[in-house]
Amino acid sequence: MTCKHFGSCGSCGLYDLGYDEQLKEKESRVTALLLPFYEKKLEVFDSPSSHYRARSEFRIWHEGERCDYAMGKMPIDGVREKGAINIHECPKVIKPIEKRMWALLEKINASQEVLKNRLFAVEFLATTTDECLITMLYHRKLDDIWSKEAKSLEDTLNCKIMGRSRKQKVILSDEFVTEKLDIDGKTFTYVEYESGFTQPNPVVNVKMIEWAIKQAKRVGHGDFLESYCGLGNFTLPLSHYFNKVLATEISKGSIKAALENCVLNDVENITFARLASEEMTEALNGVREFSRLKEIDLASYNFSTVLVDPPRAGLDEGTIKLISTIEYIIYISCNPETLARDLETLTQTHDVIEAAMYDQFPHTAHVESGVFLRKI
Ligand SMILES: C[S@@+](CC[C@H](N)C(=O)[O-])C[C@H]1O[C@@H](n2cnc3c(N)ncnc32)[C@H](O)[C@@H]1O
Repeated sequence: MTCKHFGSCGSCGLYDLGYDEQLKEKESRVTALLLPFYEKKLEVFDSPSSHYRARSEFRIWHEGERCDYAMGKMPIDGVREKGAINIHECPKVIKPIEKRMWALLEKINASQEVLKNRLFAVEFLATTTDECLITMLYHRKLDDIWSKEAKSLEDTLNCKIMGRSRKQKVILSDEFVTEKLDIDGKTFTYVEYESGFTQPNPVVNVKMIEWAIKQAKRVGHGDFLESYCGLGNFTLPLSHYFNKVLATEISKGSIKAALENCVLNDVENITFARLASEEMTEALNGVREFSRLKEIDLASYNFSTVLVDPPRAGLDEGTIKLISTIEYIIYISCNPETLARDLETLTQTHDVIEAAMYDQFPHTAHVESGVFLRKI
């Protein structure tokens, strides 16, 4: 990918290496971090080098009568620069965003004040099936005149539009998109809410789920535990390889999406519970009872496998201790440093059988990785 804003826009920090070189650099970084625990070659899953991001947020910069998309400036020597630069192209977003974002900007600029006045950001959430939800964020209260104009934008751009301002959320049609992904020969339908977590790169997401399915097929027995399950991204496809599934997550909105996704995909063996992973540990250790779990017979589960996919901070001590008792662990990580830290403890009870790297975030230093562990 090339972009005229490389070197000035802070969004793509890795721009002076070609895509293959970037990938090699990330591979050697993750390989070095995992070396104390895994000596074989990592499996590496690449990304399309352009048009890979299905969600993106832009600031709106006002200059005279005109609005433009803007991004934070590239840091200099690691120091954040004040201000923003105007964006006139953004080849990292998937086509369903790209084909609407510039038409949207023209409409905003053509509207006298209604769409433009105190608009400060626009967020896009799109699917590979060409759905797009656009959220427009304002520093002013939105009224019926705004809704009428935004509704006509929905028709023109063939998209869904939401408006947000302080303590106000205006949903004109829906606050979600519906993604369909072909994963290991089956099609899965996922409702993705605007406010919930979604994996940013759908092509790499499928590769990552298929890698996890490969590990689940190897196990092929027992029950499955998952923490940090989000909207059921891994849960639904992996549920086919286990008897019963217990999946937990801290966000109420994500659990709502996960329950809807179960129905949409005719999956009946999963129980979702809204629990922080620290609470899940307390519940499974019998330390504390939760009214949210009163319908669930925790003692009936016989977990052979656990999947964890925590935020960048990695796992807490209690969760590490709990999952150390389970025979197989699939650990998906968006931060190889905390993954390596957690492996210091996990490898006292488990061996790393396979490790992989998935390039969810091309043109940035971020990298996603995964390890599959078996009890020693
Ligand atoms: C990296 S995302 C992974 C989500 C999901 N596995 C997916 O692939 O879409 C991490 C998830 O952990 C959730 N989360 C953050 N802190 C948590 C905690 N302490 N306990 C449980 N879930 C948490 C977030 O809401 C988010 O959905």
